[in-house]
Amino acid sequence: MDSWTPQSWRNKPISQVPAYPDAAKLLAAEKQLASFPPLVFAGEARELKSHLAEVSRGEAFLLQGGDCAESFAEHGADHIRDFFRVFLQMAVVLTHGAGKPVLKVGRIAGQFAKPRSADTETIDGVTLPSYRGDIINDIGFTPEARNPDPERLLLAYRQSAATLNLLRAFASGGYANLARVHEWTMGFMKDSNTNSKFEEVARKIDDAIDFMRALGLTPDNTQQLRETRFYTSHEALLLGYEEALTRRDSITNDWYATSGHMLWIGDRTRQPEAAHVEYFSGIKNPIGIKCGPSLSSDDLMRLLDKLNPRDEAGRITLICRFGSDKVKEHLPRVIEAVQGEGRTVVWCSDPMHGNTVKSATGYKTRPFDKVLSEVHSFFQVHRQMGTYAGGIHIEMTGDDVTECTGGGVAPVTDASLKDRYHTYCDPRLNASQSLELAFLVAEEIRAQRPARESVRITV
Ligand code: PEP
Ligand code: CO
Repeated sequence: MDSWTPQSWRNKPISQVPAYPDAAKLLAAEKQLASFPPLVFAGEARELKSHLAEVSRGEAFLLQGGDCAESFAEHGADHIRDFFRVFLQMAVVLTHGAGKPVLKVGRIAGQFAKPRSADTETIDGVTLPSYRGDIINDIGFTPEARNPDPERLLLAYRQSAATLNLLRAFASGGYANLARVHEWTMGFMKDSNTNSKFEEVARKIDDAIDFMRALGLTPDNTQQLRETRFYTSHEALLLGYEEALTRRDSITNDWYATSGHMLWIGDRTRQPEAAHVEYFSGIKNPIGIKCGPSLSSDDLMRLLDKLNPRDEAGRITLICRFGSDKVKEHLPRVIEAVQGEGRTVVWCSDPMHGNTVKSATGYKTRPFDKVLSEVHSFFQVHRQMGTYAGGIHIEMTGDDVTECTGGGVAPVTDASLKDRYHTYCDPRLNASQSLELAFLVAEEIRAQRPARESVRITV
């Protein structure tokens, strides 16, 4: 730890590195990035960490979600607004159902770099470098498009800054005002069953606001009714970008990643002795670790020792992505290992990444049933083991896309995947699937409440 610097990851083995053809150009772009302002402040990251500590104690619930990969092409106000709107709807459903605060963390304003299972992609006998996210290369299948271009680091930074600016405005400029809860309904969802359930929740919130108004608490005089706190997160995969935005906090003198409030380590780059873990070990932000079936309990303990030696609450979120058919096999052993060592973590379910399949029509998709089933098993295992299922992490969009099959009254089918399949990487839940999931999760949170209370009584 003593030898840690923002650059020390460069001396470690590293995977998932793009082959930049011009090293000098890359260095110049990183240098320029290092002179740019931070996107978030250390104090905000500390505040998020303290909220995550509340989640680890069962006092709040974490909602984390957004695009699998943000893209330069989809960067528009409507896309951001529609995402934020569904995210708020989900948060309201969860807060109402769970009766506890919901911590809102977007996969946004920096979620650009993608790990790939192969370095190259072959189509019709032509082999080119894989697409690694808009911060690295272009999705088009030509040699020029797939060439990693350092200029893209600067474009991704500027897009993140603009996105964050709008999100901050939405969160505190009136859009998130609870008195406007009815206005968050999406036009294309108006006739759906999920929407009528949401309207019911919205009516109850209206009643609560009327009641509070009678007591003298109004959105005008009460910040909590008028504004919300929204945090950003992404996978810190492209370490040159992260290094350039790693800054010393002037108050504590500690190092913080300022590219987002919370960063996570992907399932493919979490080797305890490798570069990504080295980078994460020196920054003070709250961090996530993706936990897939290949994560051994020993490696998890080494990761916790390295990344959270003082067992600080809120520092580590374990984002479990085992797959609906594997979660019951792997989650109990991981919980046992963590409990056995008395470690403090936030338990979060990513029901997306273990449930990716190829449709009969050739699309990468995720059956909505499998997503629901993994979430259900996640909560069930935690109920059985007496631990708190503290959050969900999902790939979602506010758009009416057809990327995951199933869900709702007008389910997406294999045949309709082609209609609005827009993702740059993995398939996302559309707006109505996201809201439907939120209702299910609200029920699961309610179901775990009595179990916790009975534990308290028997202690
Ligand atoms: C992701 O979150 O988009 C991702 C690549 O996940 P994982 O590292 O869990 O495969
Ligand atoms: Co993904």
